[in-house]
Amino acid sequence: MAKKGKREIGEEYLKNLRPSKLDEYIGQEKVVENLKITIRAAKERGEPLDHILFHGPPGLGKTTLAYCIANEMGADIVASSGPTLERPADLVGILTNLKKGDVLFIDEIHRLPRIVEEFLYPALEDYRITILLDKGPHARSLNINIERFTLIGATTRIGLLTAPLRERFGIFHHLDFYPDSELIEIIKRSARILGVDIDGGGAEVIAGRSRGTPRIANRLLKRVRDYAQVKHDGGITGEIALDALKMTGIDELGLDGLDRQYLEVIIENYKGGPVGINAIGATLNEEVDTLIDVIEPYMLKTGLIGRTSRGRVALEPAYRHLGITPPRDIEKQLSLLDMDEEEKD
Ligand code: ADE
Repeated sequence: MAKKGKREIGEEYLKNLRPSKLDEYIGQEKVVENLKITIRAAKERGEPLDHILFHGPPGLGKTTLAYCIANEMGADIVASSGPTLERPADLVGILTNLKKGDVLFIDEIHRLPRIVEEFLYPALEDYRITILLDKGPHARSLNINIERFTLIGATTRIGLLTAPLRERFGIFHHLDFYPDSELIEIIKRSARILGVDIDGGGAEVIAGRSRGTPRIANRLLKRVRDYAQVKHDGGITGEIALDALKMTGIDELGLDGLDRQYLEVIIENYKGGPVGINAIGATLNEEVDTLIDVIEPYMLKTGLIGRTSRGRVALEPAYRHLGITPPRDIEKQLSLLDMDEEEKD
């Protein structure tokens, strides 16, 4: 494979790996198919889309889909996030500037402060906002009509959404982890956009360590590309990808240092569990939200850990993965627990 010529600094950043149209989107077939119907129907009626909520683990394409939808509707999109919208005033300018059919995207919508959420309700339902002028005996309120817009919310924790907010969405889509076959396609597409040569083996190795997540796949592709460029001629084969990923500390299941520490804490500090998520967080000195949103979903999905009403437990594959002999009665111990129960803290 030929060595690539030196590129202008900055050119890379212009290459967007995210698809901008639903036809370019790989995976989540049912979601995409449903969205296409929704969009076509709304367009035929000349109406804005209903409010849409995407939920699922990080990095699976919630934001990308929001941008695709706005693009397909020929609408502008304004992106914000729950934690950055601290006060209702933060939304006034945004909402009053939206044109008919525009999309307001709010990421991490479960972290929207309650007063902002309540301010949003009439905007979502009646396309109207109420601004309070002054305080105390002279307080007056001003109603402002806004254009019919579409809210697209994204959350990793649908369970944390309040019922009134959830009920204001007309369309819900859950995004799940991608199978390796789809990740391979995504990696090949990204490599094409980045101008990197990659063979089937290279894409397979990266896909297998991407934890079902396109964002991770694209990140690993870039790290492997760096390695291939510096140590080889720039092309990526299975062998080169394996060597590159070994250097980054990502193992054959796609787990990184923190993932393995998480498993070690359950197994070594808490005898395999059950152990409460707060105790794991305190031992690791890591935010519980990070553990719940980022670390745990893939481990639950792939059966490395289980969730019980008394906390998390390590399952047999987790022991084997770390090279630790599981307790002889592990199956019996686990059979006494109510698996797949949300922990009651
Ligand atoms: N599906 C999800 N993420 C994607 C990406 N980055 N490119 C193409 N298809 C995708």
